[in-house]
Amino acid sequence: MCEKCKGNFYITTPIYYPSAKLHIGHTYCTVATDAMARYKRMQGYNVKFLTGTDEHGQKIEDKAKEAGITPKQFVDNIVTGEGGVLDLWKLMNISYDRFIRTTDDYHVEAIQKIFKKMYENGDIYKGTYKGKYCKPCESFWTESQLVDGKCPDCGREVQDAEEEAYFFRLSKYADRIQDLLENTDYLEPRSRVNEMVNNFIKPGLEDLCVSRTSFSWGVPVDFDPGHVVYVWIDALFNYMTALGFQNDKYHDLEEFWPADVHFVGKEIVRFHSIIWPAMLMSLDLPLPKKVYGHGWLLLDGGKMSKSKGNVVDPYILAERFGVDALRFFLLRSFPFGSDGNFSNELLINTINVDLANDLGNLVSRTVAMAQKYFGEHLPAQQQADEEKDAELLAMASGLRDKYEEQMEKFAFQNALAEIFKVISRANKYIDENAPWVLAKSEEQKPRLARVLYNLLETVRICAGLLTPFMPDTAAEIAKRLGGADLSWDTLNQFGTLSAEAATVAGPALFPRIDMEKELAALEEMNKPAPEVVEDPLPEPLPEIAFDQFEKVEMTVVKVLACENVKKSEKLLKFTLDDGSKEPRQILSGVAKYYKPEELVGKTLIAVTNLAPRKMMGQLSCGMLLSAERGDELHLVMLPDYVRAGSRLV
Ligand code: MSP
Repeated sequence: MCEKCKGNFYITTPIYYPSAKLHIGHTYCTVATDAMARYKRMQGYNVKFLTGTDEHGQKIEDKAKEAGITPKQFVDNIVTGEGGVLDLWKLMNISYDRFIRTTDDYHVEAIQKIFKKMYENGDIYKGTYKGKYCKPCESFWTESQLVDGKCPDCGREVQDAEEEAYFFRLSKYADRIQDLLENTDYLEPRSRVNEMVNNFIKPGLEDLCVSRTSFSWGVPVDFDPGHVVYVWIDALFNYMTALGFQNDKYHDLEEFWPADVHFVGKEIVRFHSIIWPAMLMSLDLPLPKKVYGHGWLLLDGGKMSKSKGNVVDPYILAERFGVDALRFFLLRSFPFGSDGNFSNELLINTINVDLANDLGNLVSRTVAMAQKYFGEHLPAQQQADEEKDAELLAMASGLRDKYEEQMEKFAFQNALAEIFKVISRANKYIDENAPWVLAKSEEQKPRLARVLYNLLETVRICAGLLTPFMPDTAAEIAKRLGGADLSWDTLNQFGTLSAEAATVAGPALFPRIDMEKELAALEEMNKPAPEVVEDPLPEPLPEIAFDQFEKVEMTVVKVLACENVKKSEKLLKFTLDDGSKEPRQILSGVAKYYKPEELVGKTLIAVTNLAPRKMMGQLSCGMLLSAERGDELHLVMLPDYVRAGSRLV
């Protein structure tokens, strides 16, 4: 640890299943973890922020098989491929210090050693597994744990399973786990403790099946070929192998273990608050200091999915609204410990109200007035007014403490609410002091300067405390305040900004979004692609001899002119250059598919030795080739360098 540091701080996100692209719900926890990591760094902690991917398991093996590739190729695509997990975290400005993939060699070898150790100490033993298995969740359940005969986590069908397997003596640790949950702050929020104790511990903790033989995409049990380690053992130990536990790749275990906090979604609290501490107890290892089970982002009260009219793709949302706005929205709109209803409307509204109106306006009005009345710098001569300034100054200088109190509880929403109280107060302060009135009298200039200084200084403190949530915006605001200091130690001190503060103008930080237009655009983007109707292939024709084929003269033609045929909805009249001196006229039934003007100049193919015939009173000398299937028709076109009159052979 560095001498100046306040201490070490180790924080983790769950490692993601790369079985499909991540949605905004997955982004939620990582953004929260990033905000916490940045906040701790600001405070002066030596932070280690770990994230990664959990790449083994039957679901991935099955999906890879379906895609016709190896499981490793499948996960590589989603993790390191374009638009994959790594790209997403880069886009979202996630400042992780380490990224672990459970397929990394050092992790695989460490898991083998860990499994063996628990086998050797008697906490893992061989038996027969009879029970229920939920494939999508990769979870084993006993009959009594099922809800209406279905998986208690996801509500889907479970399968009977029976096989030789290894078991972990989870039951042995039941009392210690119950004590840990009930009598310490290991698991938060508190409401999750009752859920765990009542639903899982009190009904009786059974030993846990920790190996599988029915698929092979996992960490092999090295002393018993055919068995792979249960994916949750493999996954949970990532928090330690990524620091160097049972491997030589890293050497940070002493510094950072036990973790300060694991942030996890509510449906995986069971794994982190029962199985994880029990396995650590089995190996006599220190337990993490805290597990925080956050709520879910829901769509219309249900699970997140693409099909519900709202765009949930973080790439699209970040592109349209900006990364900082999206990060801010996630932590401002939902209490971290409970579920929240996500909607595009709420997102736009939050951006408009908090960012465009309150914060954006405060920054642009303050900077614009400072520049308009004083140019680049405020004058040194300023006049305070204790009575009028007292409330704003007290709120701004007391903000850091209030914010810190909330951040320490992971109450991001409340921490942001504290900042926005001060922002609102500052906007009110502008109206109360009406700088535009003060500016009218030369005598009031020192007072005007002080009013603007107070505003700039309030903006500085707010921007500083917004840094963990909106790092780029905070840096931009600091720039507009002439390179203001946003360091933690200055954020509870009103008056750090130089009295002659310089300002730099810039465009609106968050332009207002037209709700109706934007919702319409998002809805349009979310429309499912039109279904491809599988129409039957046409009946095959009888065989012909080559000399019959040879009799068909197919010639390259250029469209000289093209027009609709009067009274016909189907026909277009083509005047064509067929390489001869004389223009050729052909009528073709393509009016439904092409506008005449878009065909002029195109290079097509015509059958040129067909007997001429009359259609709608006009002569047609040949036939244009087109490709037809179902409702589609495409004229056969060639590149323009193919000369008119060339023959198809
Ligand atoms: N691989 C396991 C974690 C292993 S940790 C040792 C896993 N992966 S996951 O990809 O399915 O989920 C990762 C995280 O995303 C979980 O914490 C989960 O709760 C979270 N979320 C997935 N959908 C979510 C929402 N709609 N809202 C909030 N978080 C949600 O579980």
